[in-house]
Amino acid sequence: MNKISEVLLNRRTIRKYSEEAVGDDILNELLTMACRASTTGNMQVYSIIITRDDAMKRELSPLHFNQKMVTEAKVVLTFCADFNRFNKWCLLRKADPGYDNFLSFITASIDALLVAQTFCIAAEAKGLGICYLGTTTYMANKIIDVLKLPKGVVPVTTITLGWTLEKPEQVDRLPLEAVIHYKTYSDYSIDRIEMIYRDKEERSDSLQFVKENSKESLAQVFTDVRYKKADNVYFSNVLLQVLKDQGFMNQ
Ligand SMILES: Cc1cc2nc3c(=O)[nH]c(=O)nc-3n(C[C@H](O)[C@H](O)[C@H](O)COP(=O)(O)O)c2cc1C
Repeated sequence: MNKISEVLLNRRTIRKYSEEAVGDDILNELLTMACRASTTGNMQVYSIIITRDDAMKRELSPLHFNQKMVTEAKVVLTFCADFNRFNKWCLLRKADPGYDNFLSFITASIDALLVAQTFCIAAEAKGLGICYLGTTTYMANKIIDVLKLPKGVVPVTTITLGWTLEKPEQVDRLPLEAVIHYKTYSDYSIDRIEMIYRDKEERSDSLQFVKENSKESLAQVFTDVRYKKADNVYFSNVLLQVLKDQGFMNQ
């Protein structure tokens, strides 16, 4: 295996970090590599907020539901969809920016996620550990306040970064044929759904999960415990308001 396949095939999310510093040199090297990611029209409609300061991490922590990685990781990076900088440049050059709409938010989010994921691969290749925080989109309104994000800027994901202090078991993935379609989408029959999810459901950690949560099935752990409809609807409305407030729903 060459290095890139080794990194990609052996990676896992890391949630425990050592006390060892993550220096500015390595961080800048990773950021430089990440910013080589593809970007829509080479506009780079993203920004990355670096948090190293303990007091700021403590402010961010409750906004990430007190997940301990926020205060324990050496660096917290918030990746934002950002049309603010590009809009300002356009206005300065007598160009009329038409980026106050939902499509532009998606465009900038894609840019931000591509740079985030490239950063993660670069970090993992250097032996660092990362964890994404999905809480960013749930609490975007409050994160905007703490990080002082202006109009045109919305946080879309957060990554915690540090030298790894654990080597957890790799978690499962669905078989490749579950997610790949040739030529056109081939919709899933009941038999295929049974087959695709069987291994996942029969894993001992899955069975334990179901038991601990007093549920009938693993799917119920997702729908009734981890990602509930009521929470999704609530945070969806919060996020829609954020998009309005940050100027992405003006068309
Ligand atoms: C967008 C996104 C949000 C995530 N949010 C969290 C999170 O809030 N907390 C956490 O511990 N892990 C989070 N994760 C990590 C996933 O739980 C993890 O990637 C998944 O369980 C697969 O594990 P692996 O990365 O070790 O293969 C997130 C991952 C992604 C891609």
